[in-house]
Amino acid sequence: MNLENSVAIITGGASGLGEATVRKFHLKGCHVCIFDSDSNKGSLLANELGKNAVFFPVDVRDPSNVEEAITEVIRRFKKITINVNCAGIAIAEKTLGKEGIHSLDNFKKVVEVNLIGTFNVVCLCAKQMVHNSLDVNSEKGVIINTASVAGIEGQKGQVAYAASKGGVASMTLPIARDLARDAIRCCCIAPGLFLTPMFEGLGPEVCKELSKDVVFPKRLGMPEEFALFASQIVENNYINGTVMRLDGGIRLA
Ligand SMILES: NC(=O)c1ccc[n+]([C@@H]2O[C@H](COP(=O)([O-])OP(=O)(O)OC[C@H]3O[C@@H](n4cnc5c(N)ncnc54)[C@H](O)[C@@H]3O)[C@@H](O)[C@H]2O)c1
Repeated sequence: MNLENSVAIITGGASGLGEATVRKFHLKGCHVCIFDSDSNKGSLLANELGKNAVFFPVDVRDPSNVEEAITEVIRRFKKITINVNCAGIAIAEKTLGKEGIHSLDNFKKVVEVNLIGTFNVVCLCAKQMVHNSLDVNSEKGVIINTASVAGIEGQKGQVAYAASKGGVASMTLPIARDLARDAIRCCCIAPGLFLTPMFEGLGPEVCKELSKDVVFPKRLGMPEEFALFASQIVENNYINGTVMRLDGGIRLA
C-alpha cells in the first residue's frame, strides 16, 4: 500500500514510537489521525504538523470513544487504510513480591490497555477498511500492532506486561487469516529497547547498562527506526500474518 494519500489511525501517536510513526507517515503524504489519551501532547503534535494531521482524544479501552473518533475520521477523510497500534503502558510488579501478591487490578489494567485496547481498535478500523476499494496492490488495508520482546522473554516484574504483549503477538496470525477475505493485512512488530520518553527518563547511565546486551549496534533503538519499519511493512504487499522483532539482536536475560 502506498503511504501517499492513505489515511492512518495511529494509537499512542502522541509520544515515542507512535509519534515517530505519525511524523514519518505524514512526511510521506499520508493523512495521520493521532488517537491518544494525552490531549496536551497529541494536540501539540497535530498543530505542529498542520495540514493532514488531526488529534483525537481517545482511550483505546473504550469502544464508544473509539467508534465516535472513527466516525469523525470517516467524515473528514472518507476512509481508513492503515492502523498502527502503539498505545501501551508498562508496570513493574512481581507475581509474589515483598508487598504480597501481584495486584489483580494492575494486571487487568495492563491487559486492558495493551491487549484489549489494541483489539478494540483493530476491530473498529477493520469494520471501515472493508468498504475501501482495492488499491493498485489489490488490498484494502494494513494493520500493524506493537508487541515487545518482553512478550517472548519477559523479565522479572514484567508478568502483566509480558502477558499482554504475548497476547498481542499471538493474535497476529488469526487476525490476518480472519481479514484475508477482505484484503486486509495484519502484522506485528516486537521492539527491543527503544529510546522513548519512558527510557529517556532513566538517564544516560541506565540506558548504557540496558544497551550492553544488544548484539549490534550497541545502543538503544531510535523511534525513527521503528517508524521506518512500520512504513516498510505498509509498502510491502507480501508481509502478512507475522511477528517481527526489531531489536539489534538482543535477547533479554
Ligand atoms: N520503548 C520501548 O523500548 C518499547 C519496547 C517494546 C515495546 N514497546 C511498546 O511500544 C508502544 C509504544 O511505546 P513507547 O515507548 O513509545 O511509549 P510512550 O509512553 O512514549 O507512548 C505511549 C503512548 O500511549 C498513550 N496511551 C497510553 N494508554 C493509552 C490509552 N488507554 N488510550 C490511548 N492512548 C494511550 C500514551 O499517552 C502515550 O502517548 C507500547 O505499546 C510499548 O509497550 C516499547
